[in-house]
Amino acid sequence: MQATLRYCVVVMLAATFTGLAVSLNNGLARTPPMGWLAWERFRCDLDCKDDPDNCISEKLFLDMGKRLSEDGWTKLGYDRVNIDDCWPTKQRDAEGRLVADPERFPHGIKWLAEELAKMGVKLGIYEDYGNYTCGGYPGTLGHITTDAQTFASWEVDMLKMDGCYAKVSKMNAAYPEIGIALNKTGRPILYSCSWPDYERVTGTPINYTLVAQYCNIWRNFNDIQDSWQSVYTIIDYYGDPKNYEAFGKIAGPGNWNDPDMLIVGDFSLSFEQSKAQFAFWCLMASPLFMSNDLRAISDEAKTILQNEEVLAINQDPLGVQGYRVSQSGGTEVWCKPLQDKSVAVILWNRSTGGMHRTIAVEFDKVGLPATAHVSVRDLYEHQDKGTFTGFYSTFVNPSGGVVMLKLTVKAGDNAL
Ligand code: GLA
Repeated sequence: MQATLRYCVVVMLAATFTGLAVSLNNGLARTPPMGWLAWERFRCDLDCKDDPDNCISEKLFLDMGKRLSEDGWTKLGYDRVNIDDCWPTKQRDAEGRLVADPERFPHGIKWLAEELAKMGVKLGIYEDYGNYTCGGYPGTLGHITTDAQTFASWEVDMLKMDGCYAKVSKMNAAYPEIGIALNKTGRPILYSCSWPDYERVTGTPINYTLVAQYCNIWRNFNDIQDSWQSVYTIIDYYGDPKNYEAFGKIAGPGNWNDPDMLIVGDFSLSFEQSKAQFAFWCLMASPLFMSNDLRAISDEAKTILQNEEVLAINQDPLGVQGYRVSQSGGTEVWCKPLQDKSVAVILWNRSTGGMHRTIAVEFDKVGLPATAHVSVRDLYEHQDKGTFTGFYSTFVNPSGGVVMLKLTVKAGDNAL
């Protein structure tokens, strides 16, 4: 799945010889990347004296890497641990290089990457195109080449590039420049861009074709918070047909819209809402970065996040981002076409009336022939529900509950 170094070098040589600007083209993220990211849960906790288990330090990232590899996560594809803001010192060194805070990262980032690699886990890091990161640490402006080389020399495998303290009008040039600098290091580094979100916030037109040419994943919308409201506001933004037209259709192997981290396993979501966030992130072909405490996660949350049938929808090689099919009185139907011509479906009950609702999916509305015999599988219950023609309907719990299905036309039936 990953590009070989040779592939990257060929791309670099082609760029050098033709003198043309090239896209990022790093061969990474052919399916949505998966792993763990510090920000939503651990923020900028610097208090290693009184809060040693939770402060932003090498211990936190090693702990999470260990959990990923020992608790069955890496074998499901959750193989990245990502540092977010607040990792460096406030000053660069005499050569202008970024330096990891020596008290919190006494062995340095390269050592951390090596330790994680031994566990089968890749390390990601965070920077900001601007004078400062959002948390006030040194930004990459004026140091793009040095920083790309530093990250490559530290054996970092992913870079999240934020956009605080930066001129939004310069982003269409700056983000590609950073992508090209990463490419030139010869190390395949997954490139995560906050570029379109800053354009959205400032009312600047967003050129998603350009974004997809240079970034593997990109943020489009608000930072996720530990609340159901935050989750459904993001889903609503992605469900808006205008937005699906603008950016949903652009998703595909190598390029994914990033609705921000999974908060399943944190404090706010009910069991039903946790299933819903995970179902939607999988249906929307979103990067799956958990921001939770894997050392203390409940069995319930772990079972949701490790559901292989739902994960397979996220990782489907066709790479289509799912979309909203219909909305009616607090219920919604969404779908995602899959490589094997099946269709994944979410039935969603947003009503707060306290009772389940019956929700139906009509097969012709999700791209299947109305007259076909369709087998229906429930991906959370792990159960075949039988064969149906025309539609399937079932009870869905309220207050954000979902039923997630896979619909497959029976072999030998009306070909699609
Ligand atoms: C911005 C980003 C967040 C996080 C913080 C760090 O708000 O959108 O994801 O990286 O900065 O300060």
